[in-house]
Amino acid sequence: MTRTIAVEGLSAEQAAAELARLAEDLAAANSAYHTDDAPMMSDAEFDALKRRNAAIEARFPALVRADSPSRQVGAAPAEGFEKVAHTVRMLSLSNAFEESDVTEFDRTIRNFLGLSEADSLAYTAEPKIDGVSLSLRYESGKLVQAATRGDGSQGENVTENARMIADIPQVIAGAPAILEIRGEVYMSHADFEALNARILAEAAEDRGKRGGKEFANPRNAAAGSLRQLDATVTRARPLRFFAYAWGEHSEPLAETQFDAIARLAELGFETNPLTRRCEDSGALLAQYREIEAQRATLGYDIDGVVYKVDDLSYQARLGLRSTTPRWAIAHKFPAELAWTRLEGIDIQVGRTGALSPVARLQPVTVGGVVVSNATLHNEDYIAGRDNSGGLIREGRDIRVGDWVQVYRAGDVIPKIADVDLSKRSAGSEPYEFPTLCPICRSAAIREEGDSVRRCSGGMICEAQAVEKLKHFVSRAAFDIEGLGAKQVEAFHQDGWIQTPADIFDLEGRYGTGLQQLQNREGWGEKSAKNLFQAIEEKRNIPLNRFLFALGIRHLGEVAAATLARHFGSWAALEAVLDGAAGEPAMAAPDAKARKPLLSESPSWSELLSVDGIGETLVCSLLTAMAQPAERAVIDALAERLTIADVAAPASEGSPVAGKTVVFTGSLEKMTRAEAKARAEALGAKVSGSVSKKTDLLVAGPGAGSKAKKAAEMGVETLDEDGWLALIGQA
Ligand code: IVH
Repeated sequence: MTRTIAVEGLSAEQAAAELARLAEDLAAANSAYHTDDAPMMSDAEFDALKRRNAAIEARFPALVRADSPSRQVGAAPAEGFEKVAHTVRMLSLSNAFEESDVTEFDRTIRNFLGLSEADSLAYTAEPKIDGVSLSLRYESGKLVQAATRGDGSQGENVTENARMIADIPQVIAGAPAILEIRGEVYMSHADFEALNARILAEAAEDRGKRGGKEFANPRNAAAGSLRQLDATVTRARPLRFFAYAWGEHSEPLAETQFDAIARLAELGFETNPLTRRCEDSGALLAQYREIEAQRATLGYDIDGVVYKVDDLSYQARLGLRSTTPRWAIAHKFPAELAWTRLEGIDIQVGRTGALSPVARLQPVTVGGVVVSNATLHNEDYIAGRDNSGGLIREGRDIRVGDWVQVYRAGDVIPKIADVDLSKRSAGSEPYEFPTLCPICRSAAIREEGDSVRRCSGGMICEAQAVEKLKHFVSRAAFDIEGLGAKQVEAFHQDGWIQTPADIFDLEGRYGTGLQQLQNREGWGEKSAKNLFQAIEEKRNIPLNRFLFALGIRHLGEVAAATLARHFGSWAALEAVLDGAAGEPAMAAPDAKARKPLLSESPSWSELLSVDGIGETLVCSLLTAMAQPAERAVIDALAERLTIADVAAPASEGSPVAGKTVVFTGSLEKMTRAEAKARAEALGAKVSGSVSKKTDLLVAGPGAGSKAKKAAEMGVETLDEDGWLALIGQA
C-alpha cells in the first residue's frame, strides 16, 4: 500500500494512481454502504480516505478526476437512464455451496411436486456467467428495448447501448410476436486486459474519459461499459452476451429448458456450449466438476454452475419465492482465500443492539478484491467455539496481531476461516469481548441460548438509533431517494432526525428550511428540493414495507409481506398486536421467560395461525408493541403516513381471493407445499389452524381434529377434488 507516503512526497504519477484507487475504493464503499447496507469499512476509515483524497487533490489540482469522491455526496443514484418496469420480474438465484445443498435442492423439489426418489426428474446445468444481466424485448422480431435488472421490478433503459453489442441481434426471424430474451453481458479476459491497457495508454497521453482508471475485473468492466450514457462509448467496448432465460413471451418456446435454450440458439443468440441436460442430481454434480475443470481455460469469468428443472411445466408449478425461483439454484465455486494480519477488532452495534465484532485487516487481495474488513460473527467464534460450545478450528482462538485466513464466497462480506498459530507473537493475549456497549456504555447482555451479546440501552443507545434509521431508509424499506445511510447519519448527528417520524417533519422544520438544508455541506437547492419531494412520495407506503422498515427483531422482508397479505391493513394488524398490551408477560425480563406467559394471550394464537409466522417472531412483535418508548415511535410514524392496504395478489376473478383456507389430511393430486403456493397465487390466505376466520377447509383422507372443529363451527369443507374444481384446476 502506498497510502502511507506523505502527500508532499508523492510524484504526480503516484498521485494519479492513488486518486484512481481512492475513487474506486470510495465508490465501492459508498455503494456497499448505501445500496447493500453492508459497510466495507468503518466511518472513520471512510473519512480518512476522503481526507487523504482531498489532501492529494489540494496538492495536485490538475489531477482532480471527473469522478472524484470530493465531488460526490452519498451513492450517486443512477441518474440519466430512463426507468423501465419489467413485465415479468427479473429474479436472482438462491445459492448452493456444498454437494449436500444440491441433494437438498433436489429433495425439496421432489417433495413439492410429490415425486418419489424413483420418479425421473431432469435438470439442466450451465455455467453461471459473472457479468451483468440484461433483458431484451423483441416485438415482431425487432429489438425494441433493452433493460438492466435494477431491483428486479424496475431496471434502466439501455436500449441504445445494447444495440452496440455484436452478439445481440437487432432482428430475429421466426420468433413469437413478443419475446423477452434474458442473459448476461460479459467481457472476455483477453478483451478486458486489452481495454485496461488502452485506458492506461490513453491516460499517459492524457486523453480518454476514464482518466487512467483501470477496471478492477471483467465484471466491473462489463457493467461500466454497458451503463454508459454515451452509447458510442459502449460501441468501443468489446462486450458479449449469452442468452439463458426469457421473460414475457406470447407463445411457449419449448417444453423443456434445454429445448428452449436450443431454440434461443436457433433464433440467433449465443448460448453457452457447456449447457447440459442431466438426468439426476448425480449428473449435475458431474457436470459441475467438468465445468470447474474447464474454468481456467474458458477465457471469461464464471462463478458457479446454475441448475434448473428441465420440464417447463414443473417450473410453472414450482413457481417463485419472493426474489428467487424454486426451480433453480446456483452452485457456487469454493471461496477464494488469502492470509493476512489481523490489525484490530472493532465492535459494531447493530439496530437490535447486537455487538458484532469486525476484523480490521492489513489489506489483502482475495480473488481480485481488496479486503480490509471481515466479520468475526460473535464472541464464541473468536474464542474458537460454536454456538453449542463445541470446538471450531480445533479450539484455536483469534487474537489481535494473528495471521488469519480470509475468504470470500460470492459477493458476501468476507469471513475469517483460520489462524496460523506458528506466527503468533509470544506476548499475545486472548481477545476480551466487551461487556459494555462501546457506544452508550450500557451493559451488553448475553441471554441464555443466544450467541450474540446485546446492548441493553434500547432507545438511549445512539448506535441502535442510527442503525434503525439506516434500516428504515434502506432499499427494501422506505428507500427514499437521496436519503441513504450516510445522509441519515449526518442528520442524526446534528439532531435533525432522531426517529423515523422526524424524516417526515424535515421539510416543515428545516425546509423553510430549504435554506438550512442547502447550507449543509453537500446539499444544493436542487438536491434539497428533490429530497423533500422524495420524502413526500414515500408518505404513502405499502403495509409490508412499513412493517419491514420498523426494524423489529426477526421481522424480515418475507415475514413482513406474509403479515401484510394476511391482515391486509395496518388497522387490522395493529388491533391484533394490541391484544397483548398490558399482559403480565411484558414484565418478564427476557424472551425466554416471556414466551410461555405470552402464549396465554389471544393475539398469540391468532398471529401463530398465520402460515409462516413462528413463535420467536410473534414474541418479538408483541414485545415491541407493548414497550412504551418503541410504541411511541411507531405511532408517531404511522400518524404521518398513509399506510396502503395490501391486496391479496392476482385475485382478479379468483373465487378464493381474500378467503382464509386451511389444508388438512393428505392431499393426493399435489403436495401441501404446492397447494399452499397455488392458493396464495390465487389470493387466498393459507392458515395452519381452524378459527372463526376460516372460510374454507380442504380436507384430504386422514383429516382429524381440524375437520372436526370445522364441522362444529360450520366452516365449509371440501375434499381435494372439490377444491380443484372450485379453483378451476380440476
Ligand atoms: S438464470 C430465473 N442462468 O446470476 C432465473 N442466471 O444470481 C434467472 N446468471 O441475475 C437467472 N449466469 O444475472 C441464470 N446461466 C445463468 C446465469 C445467470 C449468470 C446471473 C443472472 C442472475 C444472477 C443470479
